Amino acid sequence: SDEVVTNEAGHLTIGGVDALKLIAKYGSPLIVYDVTKIKNQINHFKQAFIEAGVPYRVTYASKAFSAVAMYQLITNEGLGCDVVSGGELVAALKGGMPAERIEFHGNNKLPIELEMAVDAKIGCIVVDNFQEIAYLDKILKEKNTKIAVVLRVAPGIEAETHKYISTGQENSKFGFDVHSGQAKKALKMLLDNPRMNVVGVHCHIGSQIFAAKGFVMAVDKMVSLLKEWNDEFDFSAKLLNLGGGFGARYVDSDEPLPAEDFVEQIIAEVKKKITEANLVFPEIWIEPGRSLAAEAGSTLYTVGSRKDVEGVCHFVAVDGGMGDNIRPALYQAKYDAILANKPNALKEQIVTVVGKYCESGDILVKDALLPITHSGDILAIPSTGAYGYTMASNYNRNPRPAVVFCENGEDKLVIRRETYEDLLSYDIGL
Ligand code: LLP
Repeated sequence: SDEVVTNEAGHLTIGGVDALKLIAKYGSPLIVYDVTKIKNQINHFKQAFIEAGVPYRVTYASKAFSAVAMYQLITNEGLGCDVVSGGELVAALKGGMPAERIEFHGNNKLPIELEMAVDAKIGCIVVDNFQEIAYLDKILKEKNTKIAVVLRVAPGIEAETHKYISTGQENSKFGFDVHSGQAKKALKMLLDNPRMNVVGVHCHIGSQIFAAKGFVMAVDKMVSLLKEWNDEFDFSAKLLNLGGGFGARYVDSDEPLPAEDFVEQIIAEVKKKITEANLVFPEIWIEPGRSLAAEAGSTLYTVGSRKDVEGVCHFVAVDGGMGDNIRPALYQAKYDAILANKPNALKEQIVTVVGKYCESGDILVKDALLPITHSGDILAIPSTGAYGYTMASNYNRNPRPAVVFCENGEDKLVIRRETYEDLLSYDIGL
């Protein structure tokens, strides 16, 4: 988490706006983004490529935070975006993302989703498996059209991260396996298909990665494949997509490499290997999701009940929980907590911050060092901007929070709070 910024009232501010004013205006709980932080991260990635002087594209992996406002912001910043479902595709288009800048990922894209992508004329489909090639071929024939495709391979590299978010290893469900020859077979099929224009190759080694080593290994692997396929099929990749996975800082002890250092080290390796292999220099693509959104977002909650059993437990309960942030329960993810109404007060108690959901695992922060809290206090959990709202649920029929963008002291509601009416709107009854 970043250093805490306060105003003259001694309250936490986000994007220059008083956190307590935001709660008074929009209600609680509330997800708040500091837009400047998103823009800064984007620029760090872009600048590193520009300084390295290589052709590149940064596509935002929108599963991290998919909101029309976010697609609008990303579009304005000149990025592309990665979608993984029909839902993300329609949201990206609604946000004004030009279709040609959209790439479509997924290990089981539905025929209807592929059709939507073809109809929208998106930039490329990242082909993941043989069934998808068959579906896509049928659709393209029926519509008598063509599309650009990228071949996703599982490079057999294990990223050092949680096993549920590591994706590049051989037994991953994503992408064509290299060692068994499936990737090569798939490439041949795509090259032989006149309706599919193979523009490049893709790999993604995992998520919440702190060091460049895995990416450097992936570059070596991918370039050696490109060399092999260039020799065998005269295939020349226009782009090499190295996926996302750049780590974010959740708690002070997290030390992910800065965005620009990741890019710098990746590019150095690409330059070296492409030159050695004597290949045409491809456009380098990356797909950051978390690293653009996580640290920019905070969730504000209101403290309600407490349960204190001396020497046993101190629970502080807030008005949200696993419904708006499943990550602690799902991945044992760590977060910090800040008392937004008095962030600089003496921190004298270690408590467990829990939610309001009927589940003992509904813990937001295991050992939070906080001032003594009271009902009505506003608690902020920083770094909740990625995979928070997008993985939110209505468990226990709790409505999902509203989302606000703040920048230079201005606030703007970008997703309204769900109402009980919303929650009942799908129920038909007997
Ligand atoms: N590209 C591909 C092909 C991916 O599968 C992913 C993430 C990304 C890019 C973006 O990765 P990022 O830069 O955000 O790490 N729900 C989990 C994370 C799942 C990531 C899935 N794929 C979490 O909350 O940690």
